[in-house]
Amino acid sequence: MTDVLNYPQVAKELDTQTPQEILEWALKRFDNISISFSGAEDVVLIDMATRIDPSVKVFSLDTGRLHPETYQYIERVRDHYAIEIDVLNPNAEAVRELVRQKGLFSFYKDGHKECCAVRKVGPLRDKLATLDAWITGQRRDQSEGTRDSLPVIQKDAAFSTDTNVLSKFNPLASWSSEDIWSYIRENDVPYNPLHRRGFTSIGCEPCTRAILPNQHEREGRWWWENPDEKECGLHSDNLNGPNALKVVAK
Ligand code: ADX
Ligand code: SF4
Repeated sequence: MTDVLNYPQVAKELDTQTPQEILEWALKRFDNISISFSGAEDVVLIDMATRIDPSVKVFSLDTGRLHPETYQYIERVRDHYAIEIDVLNPNAEAVRELVRQKGLFSFYKDGHKECCAVRKVGPLRDKLATLDAWITGQRRDQSEGTRDSLPVIQKDAAFSTDTNVLSKFNPLASWSSEDIWSYIRENDVPYNPLHRRGFTSIGCEPCTRAILPNQHEREGRWWWENPDEKECGLHSDNLNGPNALKVVAK
């Protein structure tokens, strides 16, 4: 199937735009588009997008292993912005089989990828098969090793299929953590209370811990693993895979 956009060209054009302008472009271009909300500081996307379209679509992957604070926070965001959030669950049989064979904490022994594949990537794949485009809160400053060439828009190399070319927007790509937190404070955006307790990057409860001053924000994620392994399959094929589009306008 042919691409719906000239991705490298559009990425170059949009790279100098603000996140709000990129979101506006994305929401205008695609009707069947949704924000992928992790329950952390990517709430900024929801704040910006609801100002453009109050009924913007949002989904969240409930792995079954999130912090109680994150569940409460997702509900708070839902109320605050009066939006629907499609909370997705993993396949119950796949979780049951993984846990039966390897227990509830297999990721500490043989890495997080297997559990993430069941609890995150499977449900994400099913959801993305129903969309034309999705929007993530990834930023280049989140990881020098894996996200430093992140384009603001790309063809989704991992989840496009022969019949569905999927576009992936990363409107916050050029923003720093400081930009995000200035925006949150200036706009009174509700945030996950775990951020007050030293959690900078927030994922599942057993795989996330608070960090110390001056540690990199993702050091608290899968801390027992090598930094190059800290992608869970939601984004890794687009960042490192053979079809990755590393287009950043200079
Ligand atoms: S991860 O791949 O390491 O887990 P990260 O926490 O950095 O991802 O989040 C980057 C972006 O991925 C988020 O801004 C969000 O768009 C998406 N994402 C991550 N986790 C989830 C989740 N549980 N539900 C929905 N989207 C998510
Ligand atoms: Fe499983 Fe941890 Fe991945 Fe969550 S982050 S899906 S608990 S390995």
